Amino acid sequence: MTTPHQFGIAGLLGWPVAHSRSPVIHNHWLAQFGIPGRYVLFPVPPEKLEQAVRGIQVLGLRGCNVTTPHKQAIFPMLDRVDDLARRIGAVQTVVVEKDGTLSGFNNDGNGFIQSIKDAAPAWRPDSGPILVLGAGGAARAVVASLAAQGAKEIRLANRTIDKAREIADAVGAVVKVVPWEQREDALDGVALVANATSAGAAGKPPLDIALDRLPAHAIAGDLIYVPPETPFLAAARARGNVTVNGLGLLLNQARPAFNAWFGVMPEITSELLRAIEATF
Ligand code: ATR
Repeated sequence: MTTPHQFGIAGLLGWPVAHSRSPVIHNHWLAQFGIPGRYVLFPVPPEKLEQAVRGIQVLGLRGCNVTTPHKQAIFPMLDRVDDLARRIGAVQTVVVEKDGTLSGFNNDGNGFIQSIKDAAPAWRPDSGPILVLGAGGAARAVVASLAAQGAKEIRLANRTIDKAREIADAVGAVVKVVPWEQREDALDGVALVANATSAGAAGKPPLDIALDRLPAHAIAGDLIYVPPETPFLAAARARGNVTVNGLGLLLNQARPAFNAWFGVMPEITSELLRAIEATF
């Protein structure tokens, strides 16, 4: 009657992991659906990653999330990695398939896109030019996912231009690299501007950008969620632009992962938002 792994376990492999909000999200959904299971944190140092990944299937986990510093290192330890995760160059979700093999995905960029749609339902990746600021791992996920979902023009500006060029080379001709000095000019005519730098995060200097050229109808997104409103988003909101912080990405990347692990596509409810906000 019972399957060996009826109690469903998933978790987060990272180093460190203590700051993560993912347990709040997934444990909220497990309780909501009455699914016996638990999402737990696995602090795994880099030299133990391979042993930990071998343990995923052996211990009966449904899968896991992967965070720094393991997002690239885990590639050769998986049985397959989907195309988008390959283009992004990072895995952030692992699913144990029915036959016990491990598949790697990256839902971060699609989670960001969905969070913009949640805030502005008429917006589509091909609604108009997009300016992405930053060229780290987060920017790469957003740019590759926007391109995969049909964006026609992605302007990419980063302090260190070579990192932006690398993303453009990997993703393709829809990505137009913009020198950092021209980031304000690059706001002309955009439908969306996204901050994927770490500037504006708690304890960091604010993003240095004047928004005078930002069109009134444009959406301003920030991948940061601590603080919930960065100076960049506050400035955009003061001008009347729709703003979206990084909580939407966090919640929307978790939905397809939960579905893959536990077989139910969960929703982002006001109760869940309150549970997350209570952690700040
Ligand atoms: P993540 O994985 O979250 O993307 P990351 O790889 O460390 O983090 O990338 C951080 C990004 O923020 C980089 O694009 C970085 O610019 P550089 O490539 O020039 O270092 C950008 N960044 C950090 N502080 C910044 C600041 N004060 N102004 C502008 N960009 C900044």
